[in-house]
Amino acid sequence: MPQDTTSATLTVRVRRGKESGTWQEFEVPHRESQTVLDVVTWIQRNLDPTLSYRFACRVGMCGSCAMTVNGKPRWTCRTHVSRVAEGGAIEIAPLRNMPVIKDLACDMTEFFQKWQRAEARFNGKSDRTEPLPKIDPASPARVAASAGIECINCAVCYSACDVVAWKPDYLGPAALNRAWTLINDERDVSRKERLVAVASGAGCHSCHSQGSCTVHCPTGLNPSQSIAGLKKETMKALLKGELG
Ligand code: FES
Repeated sequence: MPQDTTSATLTVRVRRGKESGTWQEFEVPHRESQTVLDVVTWIQRNLDPTLSYRFACRVGMCGSCAMTVNGKPRWTCRTHVSRVAEGGAIEIAPLRNMPVIKDLACDMTEFFQKWQRAEARFNGKSDRTEPLPKIDPASPARVAASAGIECINCAVCYSACDVVAWKPDYLGPAALNRAWTLINDERDVSRKERLVAVASGAGCHSCHSQGSCTVHCPTGLNPSQSIAGLKKETMKALLKGELG
């Protein structure tokens, strides 16, 4: 059970190098309200300027700071050390399921290529000269779209997903969640192409409904529910002969 620690220093084990890297241990001053990203930044600025990691906003919006902390994927800028330190120690590694560029920075190329493969981008039917379409915010489709819209692309769900680990071509929860929001977007015109894309062998039907994505999503989204929606819609479309 994670516990707050009152010790003056934290023992921080950080994964260094690439896939076949090693662990390096640092002693870092323990401060009140300190986040895991604060710890990583302190190490880089005070102990080892060669430590590589990624961040931008520091306020939980950009999704770039995710790492594995004591074995779990987390957004480090919003994770307080007091919530995760165990006996005055924390262990920080890169996210899993992606190649490591160096230290704590992953290569997210394939993660975003899967968004392309899932047709997880908006294709509108009007141009800027036309009036904005009116969408009822209370309509079932808009409610379903809005439930998954606040994804910050942090890849925490992707790192948490055992199916991605077992089946590397699986599109993964983030791309499928985005596809679901677009299936429910009345302004979008690529419904059929998207359903075909997500019904593929590496798509929504590969999900085992383990729910790790939903458990770990830092913004409280429910990709499992989105994927369940895709499974239902693709089956309905298949039975109606719409996927041919
Ligand atoms: Fe932007 Fe953490 S640095 S979400």
